[in-house]
Order: sequence, then structure tokens, then C-alpha cells
Amino acid sequence: MELIKTDIAIVGAGGAGLRTAIAVAESNPDLKVALISKVYPMRSHTCAAEGGAAGVIKPDDSLELHFNDTVGGGDWLTDQDVVEYFVNEAPKELLQLEHWGCPWSREPNGSVGVRPFGGMKIKRTWFAADKSGFHILHTLFQTSLKYPSIERFDEFFSIDLLTMDGRCQGVVAMEMKSGRLFQFQAKAVVLASGGAGRMFPFSTNGAIKTGDGTAMAYRAGVPTKDMEFVQYHPTGLLATGILLTEGCRGEGGVLRNKDGYRYLQDYGMGPETPLGEPVLKTMELGPRDRLSQAFWHEQQKGNTIPTPWGDSTHLDMTHLGEKHIDERLPLVRELSITYAGVDPVKEPVPIRPVVHYMMGGIHTDIDAKTPVPGLYAVGECACASLNGANRLGSNSLTELLVFGKRAAGNAVQFAREQTAEADTTALREQADKALDKVRELVQKSGGTESIAGLRSEMAKSLEEGAGIYRTEETLQKTSDTIAELRKRYPAIELHDKSNVFNTDLFQALELENMLALAQTVADGALARKESRGSHQRLDYEARDDETYLKHTLAYYQGKEAPRIDYHDVVITKSKPGVRDYSGGAK
Ligand code: FUM
Repeated sequence: MELIKTDIAIVGAGGAGLRTAIAVAESNPDLKVALISKVYPMRSHTCAAEGGAAGVIKPDDSLELHFNDTVGGGDWLTDQDVVEYFVNEAPKELLQLEHWGCPWSREPNGSVGVRPFGGMKIKRTWFAADKSGFHILHTLFQTSLKYPSIERFDEFFSIDLLTMDGRCQGVVAMEMKSGRLFQFQAKAVVLASGGAGRMFPFSTNGAIKTGDGTAMAYRAGVPTKDMEFVQYHPTGLLATGILLTEGCRGEGGVLRNKDGYRYLQDYGMGPETPLGEPVLKTMELGPRDRLSQAFWHEQQKGNTIPTPWGDSTHLDMTHLGEKHIDERLPLVRELSITYAGVDPVKEPVPIRPVVHYMMGGIHTDIDAKTPVPGLYAVGECACASLNGANRLGSNSLTELLVFGKRAAGNAVQFAREQTAEADTTALREQADKALDKVRELVQKSGGTESIAGLRSEMAKSLEEGAGIYRTEETLQKTSDTIAELRKRYPAIELHDKSNVFNTDLFQALELENMLALAQTVADGALARKESRGSHQRLDYEARDDETYLKHTLAYYQGKEAPRIDYHDVVITKSKPGVRDYSGGAK
């Protein structure tokens, strides 16, 4: 085992990890940063974000409006101190990106362009055509290269955290090309490892999004928070699930059922969106949870189109014109042609809801701190409770910037306070357990289970039992299935016994992580007997603030099911109310 001593270890080199690393380097160039990622940074999932990042910049917008949209959009399960901090910092971070070279799209007068996004009642999403994530990631990556204190460990698979004396002191990771294990000893660790949407069978998420960091924190004693809130994006490209950005609807695209009817008008979502007006009515610009639920109802009514890849409706952009589509949505056009054989300039594109984002994640506070001292989390792997029960599109790119910077500040302060020498030998003993786990997995023979088999059972069970709509019966079945799959997991056998890029091994570790988190999704949802945001129960249709205006915490209990507990929601100025997206239409 190799030993690397650093000041701050960051797991994940997507937008959140890079923003954190830059902020650490800017605040103190003498602090060493180890930036550890299972992929090369530009392959991180931030790259796949399309539509943009929200932040108040226009005179007709206000921080208060952004606050209200976010809190209401999250069905009041947001922590309002977190939201307030976020909306205040958002414009500063987006301007900072501009100064680092992010090529934001412009208005004809040269000012930064903003587009409408779902659940935002005014245009406030900054965008770079429909490749916003790519440009943000590139901007952060190129900026990070300026700082010699940031040392990158690309293609290193993190396996477990090292905790000792009641605090986190590092991480064990495997160099994927050699199979060698590394003991990263750090004064503070920041997890920026992304979400876990790949637990589900149909997802916009890249294959890397398997919740590794979240599961590591969970095993190390940090509870997950609000994992039952799983976001379905309403417009995934049929068959592949590739994201067709909300920007399509922001630019004027509409959703039609099998009869060509704009069905959203039947689901409490206002009249036609008058593009060009500062205050938007809804319809296609309603929030993601509501749009995905409307699809489900259309399906029940027989108004969707059956296809070999599941039922679909249509995203119609034919009225926008080729020039506009090529300028604002070039990637969407390319993806639709390549992966569905449909040119959106000429024909409506087949779409269906697809798992896109985990509102839940590692329990953190407003400072990105977890309950384990020295351990921080940021980005989709974390749950600082900005997004509540339903995240608004374009808040997450901004979130990773705002809280990446904040996590860095707090991790730096914590690292400075750690003056005692770490006990390398004791930490090695702990790191050796990760080595034992890997050896056992690789060497074992006579297994009766396959990684792919267990994984597809897990994904199917989550989709069937914990999808857009849930009931006690479906959730119980999913919870039982996941518990059973966790019992069967030790019977897997790897067919690749080598050290070099052993993808069999990484998939086994990812499966273990996903199975642990899948159980928090099912059990959290089972315990929450109400409907709120993306968590919709057919047997408890109403929101129940009396009993459930609180965050779900799930604690790891080894082979047993998680222990479920609750945590107060921070309400400062917005009392829970009705989410109204009718645009004034009654
Ligand atoms: O639709 C989109 O472009 C996705 C944005 C987001 O999830 O924030």
C-alpha cells in the first residue's frame, strides 16, 4: 500500500470537486490538495448538464423570487437558511465563472442571456447554448490547472474512508490501471462524488454515478438524508434516457400526447407560456415532479404511445425553426438525430420521464459539514437541504459552485486546526481492511450470483416499487427485494482476477454501494406516509406537514436494514403553503 500525505483530500473531480479544489488553492497555496477521481475530470457527469445554472442577474428578478421559487419548488422540505445563502451567492459564482472564461450565451445587447426553466417563475437560468455543463466543467478544469498545490489522482477508485479518534483522516483508493492501493492521509476530506441515479434502470446519469462517496460516508457513520426523493426528469430521450434539456421547453418546446394534445393544461399547470414576458406562466415550465406525474396519469388514461422501450409522449419543437434550434439547442438536435433518428426541426421527439437526480444524499449542514468531524460533502452526493422534495432545474450547477466554495473554506479552517501528527500505522491497519475486502472479492471462487444479475434485479425493483408513484405494498416489496439482494451479494464471483483495470471489481464495489443506498430509498419512502414533491404515494395522497415536515435520516446498520430517524427542517420566513403553477388560470 502506498502512502500519500496531503492536507485536503477531495473525492470526485467534477464541478463540485474542482470548485472546492480551486477555492482551497486560492485561500492557501501552501495547503496540499489531493483530487481523487475514478474518471479523468472532463469525463465527470457535470459535463452532461445541458440547460444552465440559475442565479439572479436581471433587473426584473430578485433574490426573494429565487428564494420563493426554490422553497416552494422543494415543497417546503428545503432548509431556508441554506436557500437564502445559496440565492445570495449564486450570481457571484456565475460571474466568477464568466471571469474565468465560461462562454455564457448573450442577449443581442451583449449582456448575459437567461432562459426560462421549470418551476422558476421568471427567466434566470444562465446558459451556454445547451452545453452549459461542458463549458462550466471546462472552465473549472482549466482554472484548476493554474494551481500547483492541486495534485490530481485520475482514475483512482475510492473504496473507504479512514476515520480515527472521532474524525475523518483520509481515504483508501485503488489506482485503476495497476490495482495498487493508496492510503491518502488527510486533515480533512471533501466528498464531491456525484449522485446515484444508476441504481435505477432508466437514467440520464452517466455510468459512473453509482453513489460511491455517499455509500462510503454512510458506512462511516454519516446518515443519508431524504433519499426517498428521487427526481424524474420529464424529457429523457426514448430508449437511451439521454437528457433532452429543460432548455427545450424554455425555448418554447411543448409536450403532446398521442393525439397531439398539450396535456399539461389538464394537470393544474396554467395556460400557454407567453415567451418574452418576464413573469412566466407555467404549462411546460412547471416543475419536474409535476410534469413527470402528469405523464404517469396520461399513461393510466391510455394517452401515451406504446413503444418497445416503454410508453412515450412527444416533445414538439418543430415550430421553433432551424436557426433557433441550431443556435440554442444544437446538442439536443444532434442527440435526437443520432440516438432516435428524429430531427427536432422536422418532427416531434419521443420522450419519457427518466431518473435524473437524487435530492437526498450525505447529511450535511449549511457549512457542507457532515456529523463526522473533518468530513465534508458537496454537490449531488450531499444533501444540504437546498432542494427539498423536488429540485428546480438549473439550481444544481449553481449549488456545486456555491457550496464547493463554502466546503473549501470550512475544510481549510478544520485542516489548519489539526496540528497533531496522524497515527499512520493505526490508519494503515484500517486501510488494510479495504485491501482485505478487495482481495476477498477478487480471489473468491465458486460464486453463484452475477453482478449484472443482481444489479438488474435491484434496478427493476426500484423502478417498479419506488418510481414516480408508490404505495405501501410496492415499497415493502422493493425493500424486501433489496434486503434479499444484499444477502445474496456475498455470493458473487468476479471473472476477472487481474490487477489491471479490473472493471469486474469496480462494478462489484459499485453494486455494493448502490445496494446499500437503494435500501435507504425504499425504507425512507416506506416510512414517509404522505405525498410531497417527488415522493408521491397513492395510498397517502396529501402532504402531511403535521407529521412529516422533517428530513428523513437513514443510519447504516451493517447487514441489517437502516435505522430511520428524522431531523428538523429549517423554516425562517416562508410558511408551508400551496404550490401553485396554474399561472393565475383557474
Ligand atoms: O434539463 C436540464 O438541462 C437539466 C438541468 C438540471 O438538472 O439542472
